[in-house]
Amino acid sequence: MKKAIIIGATSGIGKGLAKLLVDNNYKIGLTGRRVDLLNELKNENSNFYIKAFDINDTNVVEHKLDELTTELGGLDLLIISSGIGDINDTLAFEIEKRTIDTNILGWTCIACWAFNYFENQKSGHLVAISSIGGLRGSRQAPAYNSTKAYQINYLEGLRQKAKKLNTSIFVTDIRPGLVDTEMAKGDGLFWVMPVEKTVRQIFKAIINKKKVAYVTKRWRFIATILKQIPRSIYDRM
Ligand SMILES: NC(=O)c1ccc[n+]([C@@H]2O[C@H](COP(=O)([O-])OP(=O)(O)OC[C@H]3O[C@@H](n4cnc5c(N)ncnc54)[C@H](OP(=O)(O)O)[C@@H]3O)[C@@H](O)[C@H]2O)c1
Repeated sequence: MKKAIIIGATSGIGKGLAKLLVDNNYKIGLTGRRVDLLNELKNENSNFYIKAFDINDTNVVEHKLDELTTELGGLDLLIISSGIGDINDTLAFEIEKRTIDTNILGWTCIACWAFNYFENQKSGHLVAISSIGGLRGSRQAPAYNSTKAYQINYLEGLRQKAKKLNTSIFVTDIRPGLVDTEMAKGDGLFWVMPVEKTVRQIFKAIINKKKVAYVTKRWRFIATILKQIPRSIYDRM
């Protein structure tokens, strides 16, 4: 039985992935801050193990991950699905700071722990859910898009590092478009994809050890367009 940890499994994409992985014979450690939701999941399946912590509390993260890995009896796959993103039209610094703390500081703490664990073990798979938003800036949520750009760049660095080490460490960057979760609420959203369809495509990308995957597939088309919009036009959008 393969062993996995999902960071941010209490809702949305992380929760969807937890259900899919457990149906595919994984033993999984689930994390998040909402203890009640973690307990609900634990009651659903004996192959769910839970650990509640805030990834921004970087003093405890490593210890919590060590404990959870011991409970699982090892680790083959770690998925970072945790993340926050708020519209911040007034550029309130508190919102930007919260986003940076979660999507950069806490996120990096997890990524470092996972990579170092896999390097010691000489194998493993790190998967992170970044976003198509990381491809360009956003006037409505500047911190969100730039933290996602950071994640995309960081994952590329880790992939390069893994290659140099010449071990069986894989790094997958999943870039969703819009997915029907608590995060993607608002007016005027289009092509909002169901969680079930999205996680099925993420699972396929994991199994195939893809380096980068846009989910759902139609969002690859938007990504191609986004990357090509000239700056003079993008600045006016
Ligand atoms: N939905 C979309 O349209 C979309 C599009 C592109 C990318 N994404 C990315 O997909 C990932 C998953 O998002 P989602 O759509 O599934 O949203 P979600 O339902 O809000 O899930 C976010 C998860 O992150 C966890 N989390 C947030 N802050 C945390 C913290 N400080 N410590 C520990 N856990 C924390 C939450 O758990 P607790 O609240 O229990 O802590 C929750 O389980 C995110 O990285 C997001 O940026 C989403």
